[in-house]
Amino acid sequence: PIPIIIDTDPGIDDAVAIAAAIFDEQLDVRLITTVAGNVNVEKTTDNALKLMEFFNQSIPVAKGCGQPLLKELEDASEIHGESGMAGYDFPKVTTAPLSMHAVEAMRQTLSEADEPITLVPIAALTNIALLFSMYPECKSKIKRIVMMGGSLSRGNTTTIAEFNTYVDPHAAAIVFQSGVPIVMVGLDVTSTALITKPEIEAIKSMNKTGKMIYSLFQHYRGGSLKSGGLKMHDLCAIAFLVKPELFTTQETYVEIEYNNGPASGATIADLKMAYHDKTNAEVCLDIDIPAFQKWFVESVGKMI
Ligand code: BDR
Ligand code: CA
Repeated sequence: PIPIIIDTDPGIDDAVAIAAAIFDEQLDVRLITTVAGNVNVEKTTDNALKLMEFFNQSIPVAKGCGQPLLKELEDASEIHGESGMAGYDFPKVTTAPLSMHAVEAMRQTLSEADEPITLVPIAALTNIALLFSMYPECKSKIKRIVMMGGSLSRGNTTTIAEFNTYVDPHAAAIVFQSGVPIVMVGLDVTSTALITKPEIEAIKSMNKTGKMIYSLFQHYRGGSLKSGGLKMHDLCAIAFLVKPELFTTQETYVEIEYNNGPASGATIADLKMAYHDKTNAEVCLDIDIPAFQKWFVESVGKMI
């Protein structure tokens, strides 16, 4: 299996992505790190622990940054609810995160690994940017980054910025300039690969996780059944890892606009390579939607 570290801000679509990753036999989740984003980092960490307990997993959880590098946090609790995972009544957490910071935990996991690890950030890139700034030698132990974030066209937070790159554009700039290979799974695919009524009905009583996801879906404001379905942004990054054949991609150079102003957090892809001689990212252009929807239902079938 592919060893991965998931960096996350659960978050309803994060919760579904984490579940899909844990129960996929092609992936080996070595560490989960949390960051502020959808809600504050106390809540995202608590949510990650809730999920581990729900799934009976002992994957270590490390708490990361509570603030973006330079900006103030602007959360997305209007989409995911006050707790970040509204809609399901999880028991109170009885386990604790690691005593070390997420950046230290990533460093340790990377340095102890017998093979390069894939980083899977499905949130703002604050922790990853700090890792690269504090311990640049870690880069050689990273196979690549497969991230949910960015957009080649419109945004979902401002006119052109996607939420994860908007929350911490300075961190995104550091990561895109890091030299580590990046796959950008952005809104271009994640906003079109909707989970629709038939899939939601299919998972509703499949198993205890299907029931839990179904309940979360009732409270999730990332799309609606009236508008065609729910956007499971972060799940698309996991789909890319295990079903890359569903995606059409292009190698290009992506720049991050990090200055304050209407374009802050925008990911500007030089698709014609008019301004750069070398590429820094593989961006997703298209996804096979029916195959993604089928894979989602099959994935839930593998859960407990
Ligand atoms: C991203 O923003 C968050 O709210 C989601 O969890 C996802 O990571 C989508 O823009
Ligand atoms: Ca997320």
